Amino acid sequence: MPEPTARTRHPLPPARWPTAAEAAASRWFSPVRLGAHVVAATRTWVPAMVPWRAAEDGSVTEDVLAWYRRFARGRPGVLVVEATGIRDVPSGPLLRIGDDRFVPGLARLVEAVREASGGATRLFVQVIDFLSIRRRPTPEAYFGRFLAVTDELKDRGARALADPRLRTAPEAEVRARLLAATREELVAWLSPRELEALDRGARERVTDVHLPHVRDLPSTLPPLFAAAAGRARAAGFDGVELHYAHAYTMASFLSRLNTREDGYGSTFEGRLRLPLEVLAAVRARVGDFAVGLRFLGDEAIAGGTTVDEAARFGVALARGGADWLSVSKGGKFEDAKPPRVGEAAYPYTGPSGHECMPTVYADARGPFGRNLPLAAAVRAAVREAGLSTPVVAAGGIATFAQAEDALARGDADVVASARQALADPDWFEKVRTGRGAQVRRCEFTNYCEGLDQRHLQVTCKLWDKDFTPGDPTVRTSPDGRRRLEAPDWSPTDRHGTL
Ligand SMILES: Cc1cc2nc3c(=O)[nH]c(=O)nc-3n(C[C@H](O)[C@H](O)[C@H](O)COP(=O)(O)O)c2cc1C
Ligand code: SF4
Repeated sequence: MPEPTARTRHPLPPARWPTAAEAAASRWFSPVRLGAHVVAATRTWVPAMVPWRAAEDGSVTEDVLAWYRRFARGRPGVLVVEATGIRDVPSGPLLRIGDDRFVPGLARLVEAVREASGGATRLFVQVIDFLSIRRRPTPEAYFGRFLAVTDELKDRGARALADPRLRTAPEAEVRARLLAATREELVAWLSPRELEALDRGARERVTDVHLPHVRDLPSTLPPLFAAAAGRARAAGFDGVELHYAHAYTMASFLSRLNTREDGYGSTFEGRLRLPLEVLAAVRARVGDFAVGLRFLGDEAIAGGTTVDEAARFGVALARGGADWLSVSKGGKFEDAKPPRVGEAAYPYTGPSGHECMPTVYADARGPFGRNLPLAAAVRAAVREAGLSTPVVAAGGIATFAQAEDALARGDADVVASARQALADPDWFEKVRTGRGAQVRRCEFTNYCEGLDQRHLQVTCKLWDKDFTPGDPTVRTSPDGRRRLEAPDWSPTDRHGTL
């Protein structure tokens, strides 16, 4: 998919906020069933957002509790906890659910949200698997240590540089030649994957079946996801969301770029096979606990899956027992910008990343409700197949009218907002109680996403408007310059100036 062209800055959509009575009678604030035992009081939803607040060992911290408590006070119908790793491997300050020792911390998180929302919010946790991605190395490190010097590499070098002596040269000499090579020589010498590892950092793919741990994913992942779902249930969550979207393992199985030839790729059925097997394993473990999933309505990359196939995936996954289908778009590594040396590629930096989290600097379609047609197509196919599985839409939802119109049109059953909820976690409550004029409106310029990209604690630039660095009553980022939490709002503050 080409990068949106002719970008212009789009104004925020005008907002006419409902009265409390209008909100009470609205679709968006009406209940929705999500599985056998879960009813969300409203169709408002905060999708998963990684805030970089977990401990280095992946456990829940006070900052994590504060982050989710703050969203819960806005009483969304559903709050989805950030992508949480199903493996018990170090992955920095990202939440993990890959071992029973994480359960007590996650149970505290459940308790915190229940208390802060007065029991109004249903809490799900998104569970994720991802393959290894390395930071972009310095050429010295890459040629000095990381690149494997094989006979095959020497042979390629001999041909590329027309220097037969390279075939028998000692390893140290080959490494020195590589380091001294010009760009043109490297392009001729290195394989595309080696060049990618140099320019962007090495990244594993689900098609790397020469690597035993990648080849074996179809047998290792179902029990890992099932155990994670079991822990989510044990911790007291209302449900679990399988992360089949964006740049990660399960989305890569669904991808049209998945050319595995072991029955888990290449064909439509093959690409769907592991996602269905994971879902079945999770179901077998947790019974009628609520289990939904998030997947891509469009990968938004060259050669990637588009909406027609995604709609068919939706039907199959709904048939396979998903309790909701949350539809996202893009967010892939394939078109991500090359990172700086020492940093890892980030899947939201390229054109597909823009499709995932569109900004006001967009093509003529603009960012607002940009991805609703994908949810609409998935929902139409699911309904046509006779299934009533709820479909969740997200992407540039910034007003009550947008959400209400999307529901009225039948684009979705639930309308989610990530960045608007980040800008103002109270916005659902403000709208519900007729105080929409007090909503602090997201500007959709992605300051928050820039922090995420640098693995810094995510905050919203609007929170800092009336904040004086150094205020001892406010919890801040380590440099003391940014609020870690949205400013307080009291529902009794009719004329609040937030
Ligand atoms: C800081 C940040 C972190 C995110 N982390 C996740 C995540 O962990 N899992 C996920 O599925 N989507 C993630 N997203 C994507 C959002 O859930 C959402 O799909 C996207 O921001 C578009 O919705 P919006 O326009 O309402 O913000 C993240 C978005 C942001 C801004
Ligand atoms: S930082 Fe910008 S894009 Fe992110 S939530 Fe705040 S206003 Fe919205």
